[in-house]
Amino acid sequence: MQILLTGGLGFLGSHIGVELLDNDYEVVVIDDLSNSKLEVKERIQQITGKEIKLYIGDCADETLMDKIFMENEIESVIHCAGLKAVGESVEKPVWYYQTNLGTTLNLLKIMQKYAVKKIIFSSTATVYGVPAKEQVDETCQTGKTTNPYATSKFMIERILEDVYTSDNTWSMGILRYFNPIGSHESGQIGEEPNGIPNNLMPYILKVAKGELPILSVFGDDYDTPDGTGVRDYIHVVDLAKAHLKALEKIKQETGICKYNIGTGTGYSVLDIINNFEKVNGIKINYKIAPRRPGDVASCYSNPAKAEQELGWKAEKNIEDMCKDAWHFASQK
Ligand code: UFG
Repeated sequence: MQILLTGGLGFLGSHIGVELLDNDYEVVVIDDLSNSKLEVKERIQQITGKEIKLYIGDCADETLMDKIFMENEIESVIHCAGLKAVGESVEKPVWYYQTNLGTTLNLLKIMQKYAVKKIIFSSTATVYGVPAKEQVDETCQTGKTTNPYATSKFMIERILEDVYTSDNTWSMGILRYFNPIGSHESGQIGEEPNGIPNNLMPYILKVAKGELPILSVFGDDYDTPDGTGVRDYIHVVDLAKAHLKALEKIKQETGICKYNIGTGTGYSVLDIINNFEKVNGIKINYKIAPRRPGDVASCYSNPAKAEQELGWKAEKNIEDMCKDAWHFASQK
């Protein structure tokens, strides 16, 4: 049974690929290498001892997508490919909408052509915008998004709903990720952002390696226990495992379901720094800086629905996340 994994060499995609192979799925990957490296294919294969079939290119390329569906027996699609940097999306909105919507629309068109009607879509907690409450559940309002990246993900959720309304033989799982960090325990795959990182953990890793001098903690006057921003960090391997559970569900029944993929626990920026220092024995040089525009004080998931309906629950703790993130980064 073949699964098409778009963006399968990226940070999340590579970890999902490993879990799929470990669970005896055949994996076909399409990746345009715009934010990933070809060598990740070999690393995935080394970890699992299994092969993936790779197509290099863009999901918006109709000819290539047609070839992929023609040459393989795709049963379901896990759609991770897309641009994902919040700040960049504010600067280049047309590119973000064109890329994220264009690739998805072409994918859906080809899926319709080949009557492949099972898809898991990588969405994000940012579809909730400024959350109505700190602990967000799936009934919270979506759409009041604060940047083009989030809006593009929200729009894709709406497109999927419309497709389902038009044809209820589709089976769709929308996974709203909170803050994925960490890496596979082998230390062979992990997050390798280009340039100066925007996100907290990649920045901490650069400071730990001495590649950047100091971390700015964006605000210490929020209404949180220590004044710094609180988020729901989730180990990328836990997140990858959620896809296996979602895949089982969409194989069994038609419908469109949405799940928060988080731990349900919020940690502050200082919690992350302190845990990182403790488990890795490395001091992180940091300073308190002004708040970052657009940040909320606190946002974490209510992950109960995923546990009840998928039987999935995050298992790794904050120490595992900090240890595994460094295990990968320290070897690079
Ligand atoms: N932070 C710092 N210093 C930094 C970077 C971040 O203090 O150098 C703080 C932020 O202010 C925030 C926390 O660390 O309080 C987490 O920030 P991130 O940038 O790591 O993550 P965000 O919660 O802002 O957003 C991330 C991704 C989105 C994703 C979202 C899901 O960037 O793509 O999580 O909620 F959609």
